[in-house]
This record gives sequence, C-alpha cells and structure tokens, in this order.
Amino acid sequence: MLFRIPALLSAQTCAEMVAQLEAASFVEGKTTAGWYAKQVKHNQQLAPAEAAPLRQQIVEALNRHPLFQAAVRPKRIHTVLLSRYDPGMAYGTHADNALMGQWRSDISFTVFLSSPQTYAGGELVIEGADDEQTYKLAAGSVLVYPASALHRVNEVTQGVRLVAVGWVQSWIRDPAQRELLFDLDTARRSLFAKQGKTDEFDLISKSVANLLRRWVD
Ligand code: NI
Repeated sequence: MLFRIPALLSAQTCAEMVAQLEAASFVEGKTTAGWYAKQVKHNQQLAPAEAAPLRQQIVEALNRHPLFQAAVRPKRIHTVLLSRYDPGMAYGTHADNALMGQWRSDISFTVFLSSPQTYAGGELVIEGADDEQTYKLAAGSVLVYPASALHRVNEVTQGVRLVAVGWVQSWIRDPAQRELLFDLDTARRSLFAKQGKTDEFDLISKSVANLLRRWVD
C-alpha cells in the first residue's frame, strides 16, 4: 500500500529541523548503500551521532499516528537517515536493501523536510511495471511505500532537498494480508462510529484479532 500522511510534522517542527540540518555536518551517502546502489547514490547523510535526536522525533511522530499504525503495523522503525541533496545530486533507480542489520525492510518512508518551493528537481519517483508516480510533498508530509518497489530521486537542480528516509519491519510481512487487516479494521471502526458496539462489530473485531494471531510474524 502506498499512501501519504499530510503534516506528520508541524510547520514549526519542520522549520526547526531544517535550521538544525543547515548548520550540521553531512557525510558521503554511499556509506549506507548496497554494493550496486553505491553506483547511483549521490547524496549526503547526517553523521549518525548528530542524527539521533531528529531520528527519535520522527519515530515518535510515526508511532503516534493512527493511520501509520493501522496501515503499516510497525514492529520496529529500525532505520532513519537524514539526507541532503545539493544541486547536481540525485539517487538513481534502485531497490532498498531487504535486510538492514538484523531487521527486514518491509515498508519505506520519506519525510519531506524542505519546502518544495525552495528547491528545483529532487522528486521521488516510484517506478511501477508500466508507469511511474512522482512525488514532491509539502514540508512535514510523509510518503509511505513498499520497500519492494524500484524508485529513484531526480537530480536537484537548484536549492537544497532535505528529507528523512526510513524503513520499517511490520508485524505482518505480507502486504496483501496487511491490506486485508487495514480494510477490516477501518470498516469495523466506521461501523462502531455509526451504530456503536453491535453484534456485527463484535464479529468483525473477533475476525481482526484472530487473523492477526494467524499472520503475525
Ligand atoms: Ni531507496
């Protein structure tokens, strides 16, 4: 499932993060790329020691967000990188590593930190079998997409693109099962809002719980 969460971070939080990042020291981005992705990865990353507080803020915001929780069912948001693209930088077509340390990457996300008016180019492009989708979201918004997809970042031609990119291992490994649970859960919440705790609500709740027991990983 691919979806966006508008305004995950407030305008103020985002502005503070950008100010902090503009003063911070970045290192070569190739250090965290797989062997073939190194060839196409041209960006910079915040040094891990400096990234810790920002990473924590982003993880907390995602863990508080009901849509992210329901659609992703995160077991652990295990990796978050703060990336910077100056003019001339890009990240060519690649798939993200399946394993990061001892964690699996099921779902990827990009939190857009720079306002889109402040840089040219730098779109995130998700490549499908027959088409591609281009994203350049407002500051503070996040795009959540399957880690299995080929994707790229177009060259930045002007300004600076600051983003946080991260990976999640889900409790539910199979995307189709995850979507089924999301749909059922959404339907039962809507039923509850309209009619309260009916017999039908109880049966769907039981099914959600029992499917989770079967599928959790
Ligand atoms: Ni990637």
